[in-house]
Amino acid sequence: MSDPKKLFVKTYGCQMNVYDSERMAGALATRGYETTEDMAEADMILLNTCHIREKAAEKVYSELGRLKPLKAAKPDLRIGVAGCVAQAEGAEIMRRQPLVDLVVGPQAYHRLPEMDDAVQQGERALDTDFPQEDKFDHLPAARGPKASRAPTAFLTVQEGCDKFCAFCVVPYTRGAEVSRPVARLLAEAEDLVDRGVAEITLLGQNVNAFHGAGPGGDWSLSRLIRKLAEIDGLKRIRFTTSHPNNMDDDLIAAHGEIEKLMPYLHLPVQSGSDTVLKAMNRRHTADEYLRLLDRIRAARPDIALSGDFIVGFPGETEADFEATLDLVDRVRYAQAYSFKYSARPGTPAAEREEVDENVKSERLARLQEKLTAHQQDFQHSMVGRTLPVLLEKPGREDGQLVGRSPYLQAVHLLADASQIGEIVDVRIVATQRNSLSAETI
Ligand code: SAH
Ligand code: SF4
Ligand code: F3S
Repeated sequence: MSDPKKLFVKTYGCQMNVYDSERMAGALATRGYETTEDMAEADMILLNTCHIREKAAEKVYSELGRLKPLKAAKPDLRIGVAGCVAQAEGAEIMRRQPLVDLVVGPQAYHRLPEMDDAVQQGERALDTDFPQEDKFDHLPAARGPKASRAPTAFLTVQEGCDKFCAFCVVPYTRGAEVSRPVARLLAEAEDLVDRGVAEITLLGQNVNAFHGAGPGGDWSLSRLIRKLAEIDGLKRIRFTTSHPNNMDDDLIAAHGEIEKLMPYLHLPVQSGSDTVLKAMNRRHTADEYLRLLDRIRAARPDIALSGDFIVGFPGETEADFEATLDLVDRVRYAQAYSFKYSARPGTPAAEREEVDENVKSERLARLQEKLTAHQQDFQHSMVGRTLPVLLEKPGREDGQLVGRSPYLQAVHLLADASQIGEIVDVRIVATQRNSLSAETI
């Protein structure tokens, strides 16, 4: 066989893209590609892109611009664009950037090997279909030697979204909600655990809407989690991202009953104003969301809550925004993401009149000040406590490892690299802005 070709993948956007990038590497391995961390030695560069906000999408074009000299120096270099920008703007990318050889949408990744063959024949390949077959049936899992495998892994259980929030591109770029069959998920999870994985994060754009076909009919997410918890060697289970309207009773109960299910929940609300929530098509009120959180906290009192917020949605008034601040004060999130509204072509909200950019910036700053203060309070409440930490990888300093607390906080401590993959009890001694420092006991 000829020398392996080198594949460099750059991943933007959400965790589902991280998972897909691994699977694309697995698919291209069938054509002799090995992944590399060094872009300069690559035979193929694949950008796995995100379309969620304008800035995210624009990054792709600037990155492609930066690749020009590489392509000029190495005419054989193949450049591919995957992910949600590929899905949304496939033909436009081909037109704007002649150096792109291949554009592939998220539902067509299993066709990458054939597309690469076409490129080898001197063609440009574009595939943004939503094929009938399940891409995951045809995408080999990325294999690696057991020792090199990180102790944490993602597992996509559900893709796409039928919710059509007025601001969001996901239903268009990822398509309709589809759940993967239970048997395949269990097999993939067992395989991951066999290769040393201690923690699995179940992924879906709408993960708690999961309804995969299994023995006896469709399984809910909580039923899947209960089954996964029976796998020996699997120590931690997480899932993301959930929609408030799909938090059913059993999923709430699972947080109090399943020890392996970590006490952390990312549950975006976007706004605290009922007027804005309605205009966003979120289909619940602020009060319904708060009552839901009460039930979740009743099941698991120490749960760390995380959220997403959009400020400056079309029509948002100062009073609407203050309702968001009020909701944030009531919930006291352990962690949160917040964004200025960004109009996305093709979504209903893009037709509406925008809030002034300066107003958006000012509101985002005020919101983030509050969110940061609550996050700091949460971090400080950990100091002096003993927490079980899953050791994940070497830290920046010599002899240091980084792990995660049950609440998904990064924890730094001095420990031996041979302990990676273990869960150790540590004492939290200090907190930085985004992480904790700990001592082994
Ligand atoms: N499926 C998840 C999140 C998908 S996108 C959910 O339903 O919550 C992740 C986050 O990006 C969203 O929660 C939202 O806060 C933000 N986002 C999505 N579209 C956006 C837009 N047009 N402008 C600004 N932020 C946006
Ligand atoms: Fe987008 Fe709403 Fe679907 Fe989340 S639930 S992916 S925000 S449309
Ligand atoms: Fe971005 Fe697509 Fe994920 S738009 S957030 S990469 S689903």
